[in-house]
Amino acid sequence: MADKVEVRLNGPYRVYGPLNLVDADGKAFKLPSGEWVSLCRCGASATKPFCDGNHNKAIKFNAPTKAV
Ligand code: FES
Repeated sequence: MADKVEVRLNGPYRVYGPLNLVDADGKAFKLPSGEWVSLCRCGASATKPFCDGNHNKAIKFNAPTKAV
């Protein structure tokens, strides 16, 4: 079970271990306690499901994380 999921303003979800992550192809990633990964939520990453920074570098992703 993930220890914490953090919604980054105009960026990815940062997920903290311990966690077992399985991508759309069934490839498994084991994230130990104390480590984290960033998961793309903008759709522009070339390394999905992980964020590669393209939310900022390529598309200037704008996704308010708070209800207004
Ligand atoms: S959220 Fe970073 S590349 Fe999509």
